[in-house]
Amino acid sequence: MSHPSDPTRREMLRTAAAASASAAAPHIASAGRQAAGQVGFGSIGVGNRGAVLLRSAIRGDAGRCVAVCDIYQPHLDKAIAAAGNNPRGYLDHRRLLEDKEVEAVIIATPPHQHFPIMRDALLAGKHVFCEKVLVFKPEEVRQLRKLAAERAGQVIQVGLQRRYSRFYRTAKQMVDRGLLGKVTHINGQWNRNPGSGIGWLMEIDPKRGKESAWRLFREYSAGMMAERGSHQLDAADWMIGDHPDYVIGIGGNEFFHDGRTVYDNIQVIFHYPQGQKFMYQSINTNGHLSLFRGSKSDFGEGILGTAGAIEITLGPPAAGMWFYEPPPKVSPLMDTVVAGPNPLEKMKGLPILIPNSMVTGPLERDMKWAHLWLEQNGVLVQQEEPSTEIAQFQDFFDCCRTGRRPAADVDIGLVNSVGVMQANLAMDEERRAYYKEV
Ligand SMILES: NC(=O)c1ccc[n+]([C@@H]2O[C@H](COP(=O)([O-])OP(=O)(O)OC[C@H]3O[C@@H](n4cnc5c(N)ncnc54)[C@H](O)[C@@H]3O)[C@@H](O)[C@H]2O)c1
Repeated sequence: MSHPSDPTRREMLRTAAAASASAAAPHIASAGRQAAGQVGFGSIGVGNRGAVLLRSAIRGDAGRCVAVCDIYQPHLDKAIAAAGNNPRGYLDHRRLLEDKEVEAVIIATPPHQHFPIMRDALLAGKHVFCEKVLVFKPEEVRQLRKLAAERAGQVIQVGLQRRYSRFYRTAKQMVDRGLLGKVTHINGQWNRNPGSGIGWLMEIDPKRGKESAWRLFREYSAGMMAERGSHQLDAADWMIGDHPDYVIGIGGNEFFHDGRTVYDNIQVIFHYPQGQKFMYQSINTNGHLSLFRGSKSDFGEGILGTAGAIEITLGPPAAGMWFYEPPPKVSPLMDTVVAGPNPLEKMKGLPILIPNSMVTGPLERDMKWAHLWLEQNGVLVQQEEPSTEIAQFQDFFDCCRTGRRPAADVDIGLVNSVGVMQANLAMDEERRAYYKEV
């Protein structure tokens, strides 16, 4: 890689930065909706996630909730109340799809229901936002691809919200501008304390039956690789700019002897065509996160390149640290960029992405320094607002009106679902599982 102290390259980077700043923005907040008026939407599946999505979708003025559907009456009632405008309530999604005011649907049912409901919605002429994993079974990959091609005028967006994170977009710009050198490895982790966190304890609601604990059973759920890892796999694909060709992994059901049929701990390695790897772990016995000097828990990713590394998490709060590599004294990147004491020489991580409210003292100085340096090298750092959930619906409604493809489109959702299926196949059959198999 030629380095940013080369004046020609630096000039090019500045020009590219201006272009990139304007090119990156439309995914998040393209202003010009061509047709006036709000998009009337219906929410299908309004449990935990569906409620969050509903609240996010009605922020701003682009979408209006006109109908809600859930097979479980208490969830339906709660969602109708939360919508605030008394939308019509349905216990069967097919009735909601007959509602002429519904132009678009938001699907947040358990994953085994995603494709059947999405198919009905597309055939009924609706735009679709569907939670990850977009599809659940191998045969659904082809079926949805075909349906999407036949219905190209309808929007299909997947709930992989890192695609709407300004923090992750900054990281992606750093990767694309070569500031990390060649990215060769990405680590992803989502660990939790014993059993903590939504849906990961065996809690079957007797009124609703086994499906109320759907995350733990294979007939409804693709397990931890889907529920946690799909987001991080998507981040890895995005940063690397490709999808894995094969996967190996170990999944165990060793620590929670409670009848669950999904793994309770997984370790997976995804191999990409140019040799890059995404190493992923998710466990339920300890929440320690081996990033951010152990100061956070749960989830995050480390992006490792030949000239630097980024640690990043969506949080909350979202955060990003940047580590220089190799040591600055021999790094071609640093020799002409700053004179005098250089924070990078300490080889400590520099905070690049931290919410404004948390930036004080030395942290503030380091972050300003890092931002200045990044700006000089074509990367604009933005604060993480609005939330990725709100941003993804700004994009969705805008796409419904303009016909533009969303940042998290059907192809991204399908590739991501295939990756999850590959990982589960690799763990189940204790072998390499190839993309082309699925
Ligand atoms: N993107 C994210 O960060 C994120 C976070 C959490 C969950 N999710 C996804 O959201 C989805 C829902 O997860 P959750 O935690 O809200 O589960 P949940 O069990 O809390 O809610 C699911 C709801 O769907 C309803 N439902 C089931 N079948 C239905 C049907 N045929 N028609 C209408 N309603 C139906 C259930 O009654 C329930 O209210 C899953 O796909 C999950 O993977 C995504």
